[in-house]
Order: sequence, then structure tokens, then C-alpha cells
Amino acid sequence: MNYLDEYQQSIEQPELFWRKLAEQIKWYEFPETILSQDEHGFYRWFTGGKLNTAYLALDVHIEEGHGDQLALVYDSPATNSQRNYTFTELRDEVAKFAGGLKNLGVEKGDRVIIYMPMVAEAVIAMLACARLGAVHSVVFGGFAPHELAVRIDDARPKVLLTASCGIEFTKVIEYKPLVDNSMEIAKFTPEKVVVLQRPQAKAKMQPGRDHDWHELMSQAAPASPVSVNATDPLYILYTSGTTGLPKGIVRDNGGHAVALKYSMKAVYNTDPGDVYWAGSDVGWVVGHSYIVYAPLFHGCTTIVYEGKPVRTPDAGAFWRVISEHKVNTFFTAPTAFRAVKKEDPDAKLLKQYDISSLRTLFLAGERLDPPTYEWLMGILNKGSQPDIPVVDHWWQTETGWAICSNPMGIEPQAVRNGSPTFPMPGYNVQVLNEEGDICKPGETGNIVIHLPLPPSCLPTLWNDDERFKQSYLSQYPGYYLTGDEGVKDEDGYMFVMGRTDDVINVAGHRLSTGEMEELIAGHPAVAECAVTGIDDELRGQVPVGFVVLKDGIEMTQEKMQEELVAIIRREIGAVAYFRQSGIVKRLPKTRSGKILRKTIRLLAIEAEVSVPSTIDDPKILDEISEIMQERGIGQYATS
Ligand code: COA
Ligand code: AMP
Repeated sequence: MNYLDEYQQSIEQPELFWRKLAEQIKWYEFPETILSQDEHGFYRWFTGGKLNTAYLALDVHIEEGHGDQLALVYDSPATNSQRNYTFTELRDEVAKFAGGLKNLGVEKGDRVIIYMPMVAEAVIAMLACARLGAVHSVVFGGFAPHELAVRIDDARPKVLLTASCGIEFTKVIEYKPLVDNSMEIAKFTPEKVVVLQRPQAKAKMQPGRDHDWHELMSQAAPASPVSVNATDPLYILYTSGTTGLPKGIVRDNGGHAVALKYSMKAVYNTDPGDVYWAGSDVGWVVGHSYIVYAPLFHGCTTIVYEGKPVRTPDAGAFWRVISEHKVNTFFTAPTAFRAVKKEDPDAKLLKQYDISSLRTLFLAGERLDPPTYEWLMGILNKGSQPDIPVVDHWWQTETGWAICSNPMGIEPQAVRNGSPTFPMPGYNVQVLNEEGDICKPGETGNIVIHLPLPPSCLPTLWNDDERFKQSYLSQYPGYYLTGDEGVKDEDGYMFVMGRTDDVINVAGHRLSTGEMEELIAGHPAVAECAVTGIDDELRGQVPVGFVVLKDGIEMTQEKMQEELVAIIRREIGAVAYFRQSGIVKRLPKTRSGKILRKTIRLLAIEAEVSVPSTIDDPKILDEISEIMQERGIGQYATS
């Protein structure tokens, strides 16, 4: 089928379309309905279906005779080690660890928090939870104890899984003290903590509460997969919203399995037996979907890479992994390649490796900026015909798979630089203006998706149906609000320009400037503040804060910056990359008192900024520009 026909059918006959795809996975009981609405009116996929996600990822392949095929390769330049797992070996480890969790009292529906670095055990832990029907919630290892505590309080896990340390380049980051600290901050306390002791750091254990990973496993009997409902939650993944309280995105079992399996062919054009590598982290949605679940559902080999694009040991790290493990499909964030390009602009290191196995390179997490796209096309393709297509695709934690992509496994489309191409089947994407009318081609507006969302997309937020409605469904009834603005051109190509809310994207990490403002506003000297994401060559965006001091308080710019940087580092984590701030007399506001954050952002990047007609006092903009110059912010940076 060609792309247009497949897309059209998915929109006009969604139940027929997804029924055929649901028939391609092994259910314990096939769903009674394909699409229905629950008591809140929320759409649900595959109600009445029964399945087990870990069984689909592992056991099915063994039953079909592929037990000896490689399922997972752990490649760790950080520790200079590697380990391979076949499907049988991985299934046995998962079943054993699930048995260990069972011994700790973990049952279907219980929550388990996973706060771990990029080791194979993190994947084993996720699959073990899925095997028991327990709901995992992975927290990115770069988040500080406060962030972990917020998630513990919301998810109320029975058990927390961690490791003694993570390794960032050569720096060993001890995780256990962070976990212990988060337990002091959190109001809710998990009953048990399981620690993977790594040779690089030995964690201090709390008797009674803390258990050693390997001891737990050695005493466990393998656990069998537990049958769960298609609509039962598989995981909660917290993501940044507009406030300090992250949104608990819920992923169900049935819709997730069907949509992710479909995406492996439709989006990525991969086949069972291929080697698929997502260079991301299990703490993010890309890691959930494309390091763990989708490649395994599809019978591919997945790679868990504990390293960086650069300095592990050099900017040839990606090429080394591709050539060594014969990667067919590679997926990472543009920021990672910007880091490579900065250190090896002529891609000299690429010449040392044979990357002939690579068929396609996919990028997401942030917009693929045209210079990075052109650089990649230049180094990967020699003639006029692309040898290795470079595909930008747009999606969100909320959806779990691509909303727009070049449909490589259906019918590849001509590329338009800066565009993630067309909506994938299942996504009825529109651009609406403030009045709710469909924008004309070329007109910028809010990107929305007509309900129902396709399978795998969030059915609601964990414990917060009201926030789900308010954040996503209320602005335009009948549509899901993506939070991104963009344009559709006359041929239907989508262009995603950026967020319309307080969410920014720093080196592929989704963060909330609203949360940073809440934290900065807690500083005793601060009367009010604004945090905005400004453009950054390497990280895409970085946050910058402007504060107004309370009357009578005097403080130097340097001292204030030092204290604000320390607050954000302590409360959110180094990963927020909050490094710059300025004290100003007043913030630019509209006459009705709304802070003009977009204008501040533009002042940091553009030579000439048009003064908004609603501003109460235009002179403030000159003051902010002067502070930016003085402090080397944005376009005034000296290095
Ligand atoms: N655990 C603990 N700390 C972490 C961390 C983790 N998992 N990830 C990042 N940090 C820390 C870093 O150590 C650094 O700390 P420092 O300020 O004390 O040095 C800080 O957070 C900032 O990190 P980062 O912005 O990542 O900068 P970097 O120089 O370490 O690396 C890149 C830059 C571009 C190489 C790196 O950000 C990268 O690989 N990005 C791609 C991200 C990605 O794949 N995202 C998934 C979306 S698909
Ligand atoms: P996350 O939930 O962390 O995956 O972040 C989702 C957000 O990242 C989206 O809402 C977009 O703002 C941005 N994003 C992700 N991929 C792309 C892309 N290919 N093009 C433009 N923006 C993207």
C-alpha cells in the first residue's frame, strides 16, 4: 500500500486499521473492542484484550525458534566492557529478577521506581516489572534528589531500584547517596531498595531496607509472565510540564505493543533480525520505546550504550559502535551530532570505520536544524542519490512513537529540509489558530491532533484525569494539544517550530522553565523572575534567568548568579544547564501584567527586536539588552 492510502485508511477506518495490526501480536485473549471510551469519556484501545509485554518482547521469539539470536548488546566505553545477551539469556535474567521482585512483595499493579545508569540491568528491571504486571517508572539518572522525591511521592512505589553509581565521561557519580537523600525529602517511603553494586563505587546499605541485586537474584525462582489487561498501565514516565509538578504520562500495555511493533516497519523500515540502536537513555521516552520495547517486540537486536557521542574516547564513538555491532538503524538526538561536528567537523574519524551496515539515520528529541542535517547528508552521502537517508521525526513522551516522520517502511517521501515530513498513520494532525480555525498552508498555529489519538498515546495522566483534560483537551474540544507550534505547507509537509508553553529542550532533555521560576522565586532576595530558553549552538536551548530584587536588598550580579545556579543544580540537577542570569530593575510586561518571556528570548538572539505593542514600558528592553551584553548572554557570549 502507498503512504496516502495507508494514512487515509487509518483516519477513516481506525478500528479496521488497528484491528489488522492487533492481529499481528500474540494475545492471551484478543480484545473485545478495538476502540472504546471509558467512564470519563477518554478513548481506550483494545479493551478486553489480555497480554504480557515482557512475553511479547522475549518469550515469543524463543518459542518461534530465535532463542539464540542476539537480543541485547551492552557496550560501555565508560567501563571499557561489553556483554551480549541472546533472547534466551535475556529472558532468563528477566524472569529471575522478576522472581526477586516477587520475593520483595511486588505484584501486578504495584509501582517500582528505577533510577539507574545505562546498564543492561536497567533494561532487565523494566522488563521484569512488565513480566509481573507491575508499573515501572524510570527516573533519569541526571535528576537531583528533589526531582526523584517528587516522583516517589506521586507514584508511591513499593520498591526502588538503583545502582551504586553512574559514569559521566570519566566522572563517577554515586547514586546511592542521592537515593538516600531523596527518601529523606519524600513524604512517601518505598518499603525496599535494591542496589546494583558496581566496581566503580560501593554503596552503603541500610540493613532491612536495602537489598543487593545479585543476592536477590540468586535466591529467586524464575517468574512466569502475568496476564494483564490491554488497558492496564505498563509504565509511568514523568515529563516536564509548565509547573514544578511533572506530568505522569501513563502508557498502557496493549496499545503500546501494537503501535510500537507497527512503527518498527512503518517508520524505521526494520525487519526482525536487524540491529537497531537508539543512542539515548532509558530515562527518556526514546529509551523506553526504542532501546527497550519496540526493537525487542520486533525481534531485533538492541544496543545499550553507556557512553557519549564524544570523549568516550573521541568523536568517532558513534561510528565505532555502528561498525562493531553492524548497526542497521541508528537513532539519536541532533544535539549529539552537533557535539560530534564540533569536535570532528570534517568527520575524519568516520574514515576509520566501516559503517556499510547502516541503512538509515533517524533524529528526534528536538528539531533537526538545517545545518546539522546538511552536515550529516554531506558526510554520509557521496553521490546525488542518498546512500544513508537522514530522517527527522517528531514525537513526544506523551505519544511514545512518531507523530510525523518520513514513512520509510511504507513509502519514502521526498525530503524538505527542516520538516519531519508527514503525519504517520493514526495521527490526524492539524494546525489551528487562536480561534480554533484550521490555518491556511504556510500560516503558523498550534499543532493539534484530532481525537482519538492512535494506540500507545497517553490515555490519561497518573492519578490526575483533571490535569490531563486541562493540559491537553480543553483548549480545542475534540483535539489533543501538542504544545508545539508549527506550519503545514501547501503539500502537507509539517514544520514544527517550538513549544508554546514553558517547556524547553536542553541537549535533548525536556525541562520546565516554569519549574525553574518557582525555584528561583523561593530565593529570599528575589521579588520576581523570568526564566527563558535561549538558542544555543550545541544544546539547542539553554535556560537563562532574570530576577528583580526585593526592595532594599543589594546583591552583586555574580553572587546572585552563583546562588541561583546552585539552587537549580541542587533541585533539578546539573543536566538543566542553568548557568547564566541577570539582575534587572523590572521585567518586561504587558499592560495587563503578563511577563514577555518571548521578547526576552528574542533579545538574546536577535540584533533588532520589534517592540510588542502591548508592552507597558519599552525602555526596559534596553536595560535587559545592556545586562545581556554585560554578562555575555546569548548573542553577546564571548566564547
Ligand atoms: N547522570 C548524571 N549527571 C548527568 C547525566 C546523567 N545521566 N547526564 C548529564 N549529566 C550532567 C553532566 O555530567 C553535566 O554535569 P557538570 O555540569 O557537572 O559537568 C551536566 O549534567 C550537563 O550535561 P550535558 O548537558 O549532557 O553536557 P555534557 O557536556 O556532559 O554532554 C552532550 C553534552 C551533547 C554530549 C550530551 O548532552 C548528549 O549526549 N546529549 C544527547 C542526549 C540524548 O541523547 N537525549 C535523548 C533524546 S533522544
Ligand atoms: P520529549 O517529550 O522529551 O520527547 O519532548 C517532546 C518535545 O520535543 C516536542 O513537543 C517538541 O517540542 C520537541 N521535539 C521532539 N522531536 C522533535 C522534532 N523532530 N522536531 C521538532 N521538535 C521536536
